[in-house]
Amino acid sequence: DNAVSFYGDAEQAGIRTPPQRHCVFMTFDLTTSSRTELQTLLATWSAASAQLMRGATIGQVEPSQPSAIGDDTGEAVDLDPASLTVTIGLGPRVFGDEYGLAAQKPPLLRELSQLPSEALDPSLTGGDLSVQACADDPQVAYHAVRSLARIGKKLGAASTRWTVTGFGRASAGKGQSTPRNLMGFKDGTRNIVDDADFSQFVFTGDGPDWQRDGSYQVVRKIQMRIENWDTDRVSDQNRVFGRHKLSGAPLTGTVESDTPDFSKTDASGAPVIDPTAHIRLAAHENNNGLKILRRGYNYTDGINQYGFLDAGLLFISYQKDPAQFETLQRRLGSSDALNEYISHIGSGIFFVPSAARSGTYLAQGAFA
Ligand code: HEM
Repeated sequence: DNAVSFYGDAEQAGIRTPPQRHCVFMTFDLTTSSRTELQTLLATWSAASAQLMRGATIGQVEPSQPSAIGDDTGEAVDLDPASLTVTIGLGPRVFGDEYGLAAQKPPLLRELSQLPSEALDPSLTGGDLSVQACADDPQVAYHAVRSLARIGKKLGAASTRWTVTGFGRASAGKGQSTPRNLMGFKDGTRNIVDDADFSQFVFTGDGPDWQRDGSYQVVRKIQMRIENWDTDRVSDQNRVFGRHKLSGAPLTGTVESDTPDFSKTDASGAPVIDPTAHIRLAAHENNNGLKILRRGYNYTDGINQYGFLDAGLLFISYQKDPAQFETLQRRLGSSDALNEYISHIGSGIFFVPSAARSGTYLAQGAFA
């Protein structure tokens, strides 16, 4: 059936996994300062995630004892696993002094630097733990996050911090057709798909076993001014990205898969792909070969306080070093033509440890 395994000998599911259609992303604050309670939380979350990904409930929906509260909230009963993946990340504070884990800190885990043109809202930023639940059924993804939130609260160990509900994938994995973001452009055309690139750019590949298949997760809630965007000429929209809206082809080519030619000029000698075009600034050819894995989703929060459509991109990237994201975003944040239409309003950084080996829980090795 379409169940993905939680346990494994390599990385957690939900990174290399071709993006499912929907995603609920939530961050949590730790509400305990006890190392043992943190262990219990990770162990309970691991066991619950494994069951949820199998499509099972996490206990009784209607307990035999009539006065008991249900263990499972019930809304995913009769829905299939829908390729659910639950991917759990650990924020910088987990490795502070509080839990005695300072010596176990993944070497590159730290807060992100301040980056140009960001307008981060503190209520949409930070977090000690992250949960990325992706599935082909939005209710299955929501049930997973809700269940982990409920466990966190019941154990007195974690409380919710901020969340984004992604309703449609805006990135492509191996063998997938490229979906579109809310600006109407194909997103994920030139993404990481090859195993060699995953090894080179995404997974840490060193450290103790619980870190070796890990990756640094950067999450940004990026608001789009879509009403302004919708009044822009399509020729200008194409200039902003450096690609054609409908076909996804680079402005120097004819089909989506054509490699952009950044040196091509028009009759007047001007570059065909504008100096401020998003793809010129982000492309590995122009960043010393640097790549990241993008695994984004579209989101909408309805209508804002001024009556404007409120929507954007839940940007999630995975890299073996957070500096990969910072290098690209420093460049994009200062020069990207897209900046006129977007704002980074939320942010988080987490270390996503290796998958729990069968019979263990996530990051168990850190507590050895
Ligand atoms: C490419 C959209 C933010 C990194 C693209 C493409 C689109 C797009 C349409 C071209 C198709 C493709 O190759 O996937 C957006 C939108 C954003 C956004 C709408 C914000 C709302 C970011 C951010 C980063 C980033 C924050 C990294 C810091 C990249 C990279 C590429 C890319 C590396 C591939 C460029 C290439 O190799 O040609 N993006 N993007 N994007 N974007 Fe973004």
